[in-house]
Amino acid sequence: MKIVATSNSEGLSSKVSSILGIPLSRINRRRFADGELYVRVEEPLDEAIVVGSTYPDSGIIDILLTSDAAHNAGAKRIILVVPYFGYARQDAMFQQYEAVSAKILSELFIERFEKVFVVNMHSPEGMAFLGKKGLEIRAEAVIAKQVKEDGNDVVISPDDGFREEGENISKIAGLPSIYLNKKRVSDTKVEITIPEGATVKDKIVALADDMISTGGTILESSKVLKQNGAKAINVYCVHGLFVSGTSRYAGFVDSISTTDTVEGPFSKMTVSEIVASSIKKYIES
Ligand code: R5P
Repeated sequence: MKIVATSNSEGLSSKVSSILGIPLSRINRRRFADGELYVRVEEPLDEAIVVGSTYPDSGIIDILLTSDAAHNAGAKRIILVVPYFGYARQDAMFQQYEAVSAKILSELFIERFEKVFVVNMHSPEGMAFLGKKGLEIRAEAVIAKQVKEDGNDVVISPDDGFREEGENISKIAGLPSIYLNKKRVSDTKVEITIPEGATVKDKIVALADDMISTGGTILESSKVLKQNGAKAINVYCVHGLFVSGTSRYAGFVDSISTTDTVEGPFSKMTVSEIVASSIKKYIES
């Protein structure tokens, strides 16, 4: 068995490979003149674990070509790990005739892989599209460990959507938790308020969310927390996309830590241990 990394998840693949003692497969990946991707697995395979996040979009074609290369290299059994499953927020038709991207991607993966592991899927509805082949890995304990190490006083979720997870993080870290009220005005604009009776004055707060996309949620939450006297704001999330860059956070937050489901400058926490142990449990079962 070999681990076959896609371009989006090379760092994580290498960590998982070291933990499990499963070697990384040699791959030749390049671009044609028109930008199209070429993938060749450079050795015969018997079994393969493909690891690839679907953000940016190019990760989707990378997963498909990498799995085909693994198959053509002889792999009879191919497992997929999707550290960040993009396109998962459209998990239903919110308006008539919309494409349901979470469903379509799930169908593509179900067809090709024996099992599909996903780290913190956006919603249970999204996970349901993977049916019995899907297995979710939860990263709350990874975040809680960092929250505790950083000396925070309270865990704050920016909305009801991450409330349960925020409460889990606070329980594991042994801290109290608060969740804010969020109203989404548009794709890029949100309004945040602190619930009545909650206080953050002079507190070091851990602001935790499942993902940072435009950063609107984190920025608005940070502004409100600062206005209410928070001493410091440390931001934590599972998936850090930072689609609007990272300079906008300066002056508003004191630190940002994401996991390596999306690899970047802030991915200080790693999901490698939880991914490795889930794979081990599955392949040994
Ligand atoms: C919302 O449901 C999610 O939990 C995140 O709060 C949201 O996706 C973050 O997006 P943005 O960074 O664009 O505000």
